[in-house]
Amino acid sequence: MKGKRILLIVGGGIAAYKSLDLVRRLRERGMSVCAVLTDGGSQFVTPLALASLSGQEVHQELFSLTAEARMGHIELSRDADLIVIAPATADLLAKAAQGLANDLASTLLLATDTRVLAAPSMNLRMWLHPATQRNVATLRGDGMLFVGPNDGDMACGEFGPGRMAEPLEIVAAVEAALAGNTAIPLPMAQSAAPGPLAGLRVVVTSGPTHEPIDPVRYIANRSSGKQGHAIAQAAAAAGASVVLVSGPVTVPDPAGVETVHVETARDMLEAVEGALPADIFIAAAAVADWRVGAALAEKLKKGASGPPTLGLVENPDILATVAQAARRPPLVVGFAAETEKVIEHAQAKLARKNCDLIVANDVSPASGVMGGDANTVHLVTKDGVETWPKLPKQEVAQRLIARLAALIKESGA
Ligand code: C5P
Repeated sequence: MKGKRILLIVGGGIAAYKSLDLVRRLRERGMSVCAVLTDGGSQFVTPLALASLSGQEVHQELFSLTAEARMGHIELSRDADLIVIAPATADLLAKAAQGLANDLASTLLLATDTRVLAAPSMNLRMWLHPATQRNVATLRGDGMLFVGPNDGDMACGEFGPGRMAEPLEIVAAVEAALAGNTAIPLPMAQSAAPGPLAGLRVVVTSGPTHEPIDPVRYIANRSSGKQGHAIAQAAAAAGASVVLVSGPVTVPDPAGVETVHVETARDMLEAVEGALPADIFIAAAAVADWRVGAALAEKLKKGASGPPTLGLVENPDILATVAQAARRPPLVVGFAAETEKVIEHAQAKLARKNCDLIVANDVSPASGVMGGDANTVHLVTKDGVETWPKLPKQEVAQRLIARLAALIKESGA
């Protein structure tokens, strides 16, 4: 997380004092923090305290001529990798949910193309009020992330939900958010030109699957979902209507994408079949090849008979099933995660699974691909192999989507 830029909006709540510690914790981890202080926030902490701890100028005024001359509010919000609101008051959340822009903080939230993480803090009745809950639901739907609030004693003497999450909890949420895709594409309906996938439906699988052994144990793999989620996001940015079927991951749902959460390979197949028909199917999930034939209803116990034998059975192959289905999408893309003979295996897979294109990559531990942010891929089609340089997963996603759009156009679909 070193070098990441956080724009921290400090709202008007007693928890604002904890935001001073949050600034220190973020900076300890190598992140830079630029603070925006609302009028309410300045009743609780001073701009001087925030400026001293952040080492940067603190922004307070919407119409500050000197600040506008150097950096308009649009740049201020776009110059960040993540926006954090801590404390996020009921008023700030209500403004953001309504799209109001009558002060610097609310204007930044409306103008930003960066993901926002809110740490709510308010009296428990304010938090539980249907109006606040409605606003939170709206904001979640718009892609805002939340951490807390926690239950606890409140400054007002009551007990319940409304306490702002602790600084280290917020730091953990910041790190999780930064591990995902924090750029929010323009909603296509309002962007200048229709994207190259406008009017098309794309189904993407992503992440690992978890196959239960007993109620507490499961078989899994190291897939993070970063590549598949980035592909879904890039497809949405290109104007497609996208369904993302995701196994258990910690990266956030991409904005503007319908995300279906599943656990097992069989659930994933069912969700994919439910999402068809589609124009493009992209199988980026690392689906478990096997599951325990008879998962146990009770936790397996150590016993005199020694270690248990797990009777494995094969999972359905989602990619092959979709590629052979009567409703086969015109373009079917698979991934080949290999630890050796990457291209050879990918070519065999192309034929065996009846795909149009295989994105092959080396996932041996030395490659750092599994869980990492970059990927070196080879595009394998019946016409040949094309190797791309090592690229951030988001760029791999954008290039892949551009390539698929070109293929669709060529085929005249
Ligand atoms: O055979 P292998 O697992 O290497 O194939 C990888 C490709 O097949 C990936 O695109 C993956 O999403 C897909 N796959 C699938 N269902 C499975 C196994 C793999 O969709 N059960």
